[in-house]
Amino acid sequence: MRYVHRELEQQVISAARSFPAVVLTGPRRAGKTTLLRRLFPKASYSLFEDPDVIGRFRSDPQGFLDGLRLPAVLDEIQNVPGSSDFVRARIDRSKRRMGQWFLTGSQEAALMSDVSESMAGRAAVLQLWPLSTRETSRVSLLRGGYPEVLARPRAASLWFASYLQTYLERDVRAVSAVHDLATFRRFLSVLASRHGQVLNKSDLAAPLGMSVPGISRWLDVLEITLQILIIPPFFENLGRRLIKSPKVYIADSGLACHLLGIETAAELRRSPFRGALLEGLVAAEIIKSQVNAGRRRELYFFRDQQGLEVDFVVPTRGGRLRLVEVKASSTVFPDMARPMRRLAEALIERAPRRGRPEMYIVHERAVGGGTTSRAIAPGVSAVSWREFATEDLGPA
Ligand SMILES: Nc1ncnc2c1ncn2[C@@H]1O[C@H](COP(=O)(O)OP(=O)(O)OP(=O)(O)O)[C@@H](O)[C@H]1O
Ligand SMILES: [Mg+2]
Repeated sequence: MRYVHRELEQQVISAARSFPAVVLTGPRRAGKTTLLRRLFPKASYSLFEDPDVIGRFRSDPQGFLDGLRLPAVLDEIQNVPGSSDFVRARIDRSKRRMGQWFLTGSQEAALMSDVSESMAGRAAVLQLWPLSTRETSRVSLLRGGYPEVLARPRAASLWFASYLQTYLERDVRAVSAVHDLATFRRFLSVLASRHGQVLNKSDLAAPLGMSVPGISRWLDVLEITLQILIIPPFFENLGRRLIKSPKVYIADSGLACHLLGIETAAELRRSPFRGALLEGLVAAEIIKSQVNAGRRRELYFFRDQQGLEVDFVVPTRGGRLRLVEVKASSTVFPDMARPMRRLAEALIERAPRRGRPEMYIVHERAVGGGTTSRAIAPGVSAVSWREFATEDLGPA
């Protein structure tokens, strides 16, 4: 597959103008190393995974850094605890030189927080997610967004199996809370079977013979490593009793399909999880568009105890709200907008000055199905998930 331009490149470039260092984190295999090497082909490159590099650094950290040509990419720096302190000392010697250090690390909880802490104020910390459909139309519900899966879709199943293995053995084991990897693997499958549901920790704990605090720690590991999306409920006093627990999705729809045993498009079409999977994909696209534009991640769902439900509530740049209802079908009926319109009325009553929420029914139309956004009810547009992501989520 040819190099796919990453939306985050713009953020990396502008961060390099204003900070001495840039720290790029994100899930394994998302494309961190590739992005930095493409963007800064002239920078020197050291991989802190190569035993020779690690050995040279450990035996003489100052000498190692003296020998580097700047700007320098230090890849997987979390493998050598304490190394970022030496980089910090360098930065402090020549504080005005911007864009000299580019550090990456897969976001292993403890190790990367060590790096971020020691670089506080000196580095911009950016997150690289797997590919979005805005970046390449190869992204799909079945395959998700990891570049290697999209390059060789037929090997997806094998790729995900080995991805999980590496993830478990390296990222998860690096976190002390997880001793039993086999149970953690089962936990992932149980979690996938709750994809898109309101999080109920005791319901997750029971089949695994785990405690609720234990499950909470595992969920934290998955969230920090960006393997799951935890979507909080939209919380605004509308005089309704709201659900307080968040919803949870496996972050990459391809990995979700893999964990659910879905391997082909035909299996996906028949799957009872199709609706939840599409919802998760739309959530991931919304978050990617926000993070890649350097914005705060902001996404909610709405559900009250009387049964009024809207899949997503997204604050827009203009300070308005966007309501999104996801439907895994290519036929859309005006009735599908009813919950959104009810919520919109309540929101307008509560805060008239915020203006009318934008309303979208996001559905699943096959590629090549044309792009006819259309008003299906007053103030409501029906669009396919790809159109929504590429057009309505807007340029940065
Ligand atoms: N923008 C891109 N376009 C096309 N292929 C890409 C892109 N980014 C990454 N890839 C491919 O995906 C794979 C993983 O990329 P890369 O090694 O950069 O990821 P990483 O986040 O650094 O992974 P790790 O956590 O293992 O270090 C590589 O095979 C690379 O060629
Ligand atoms: Mg890398």
